[in-house]
Amino acid sequence: MDIAIDLGSDRTRVFIENKGKVLDEASVVTYDVDTNEIFAVGDKAYSMIGKTPLGIKAVHPLDSGVIAQSDLVEDMVSILLKEVCTVKVVMPRVITAIPCDITEVEKRAVVNSVSSFGVRRVYLIESPKAAAIGCGFDITSPHGILIADIGSGTADIAVLSLGGISVSKTVKHAGNAMDDEIVKYIRKKYNLIIGTNMAESCKKAIGCVKAPDEEKTFRVKGRDAVSGMPRFVDVTSSEIKEAITEIALGIVAAIKDVLEKTPPELIGDIYTDGIILTGGLAKLSGLARIISESTKLKVRIHKEAADCVIAGCGKSIKYIEEVEKPKQKGLTPILAAY
Ligand SMILES: Nc1ncnc2c1ncn2[C@@H]1O[C@H](COP(=O)(O)OP(=O)(O)OP(=O)(O)O)[C@@H](O)[C@H]1O
Ligand SMILES: [Mg+2]
Repeated sequence: MDIAIDLGSDRTRVFIENKGKVLDEASVVTYDVDTNEIFAVGDKAYSMIGKTPLGIKAVHPLDSGVIAQSDLVEDMVSILLKEVCTVKVVMPRVITAIPCDITEVEKRAVVNSVSSFGVRRVYLIESPKAAAIGCGFDITSPHGILIADIGSGTADIAVLSLGGISVSKTVKHAGNAMDDEIVKYIRKKYNLIIGTNMAESCKKAIGCVKAPDEEKTFRVKGRDAVSGMPRFVDVTSSEIKEAITEIALGIVAAIKDVLEKTPPELIGDIYTDGIILTGGLAKLSGLARIISESTKLKVRIHKEAADCVIAGCGKSIKYIEEVEKPKQKGLTPILAAY
């Protein structure tokens, strides 16, 4: 049995061959800082962020799509996989997604974390490639596809053709950076200190990067920076737009940069098909519109945007045999085996 894992900065998703997606939980670990004992992982740990007692921490061990705290990621992966592998899986083969711009050291850290579960071999695939396969594209054909997988830690943009990447760019400011900007904005404007989970809920509820047709409000609760007492403020979608637009424009600029470097034959294909957006942040109101206005191209958001990468990793299990049989080696989208 083979397994696919999408280790996202925000969420970890697991796909098991013949079963489909079996797990989708927050990439968060709660642990004791002195003993390193793990208290909770996944969604349970997420609900503890900012609420832990002294000596206990709830953290996102992945940052900007790469592993920031490797021991915690190893524990998280092992615990989550044990939860979903009800039947004892003997040394499975694992496919996992990685950002396009990743160093050898960062790649090795991903492989080691996934290997901690006791796997036979680890295969890597870049996130936009997995996302395109998840969307149902035949990425091995000589046809250009521009896909932007916009998540919490990264916006991974790539032009694909013949199973490979022609041009790519990874921006390390996406959903999480927007949450941080919302926290800063509310502190500066209202002297109110809020947590990142509150900022994320606000972004999901009323966040936008294009002037909204109708103004919406969201009640953010936190601590008054001066009095130290609890307080709330009703913020509007226009205010959130002001806080997060710069991050969105950084993603738009990266997409334009990729287009400028794309070979002319592939640009023709992209002109016909448009740009495909995947990842959780693709759903942010107005993001697709500003990308479309700025590039003058059609932009489509996949309806299961956040699940395209894990679906694509799952579908790529079929390529493992090709990688393992060097004689048949053709244009396999999987990067390498470790
Ligand atoms: N409806 C929504 N509106 C705005 N943002 C959203 C919405 N749904 C999810 N998000 C944001 O999308 C991001 C999560 O996307 P995704 O699940 O693709 O990230 P990830 O795969 O864990 O991270 P990465 O691939 O960057 O390491 C979060 O920042 C989340 O707040
Ligand atoms: Mg992702």
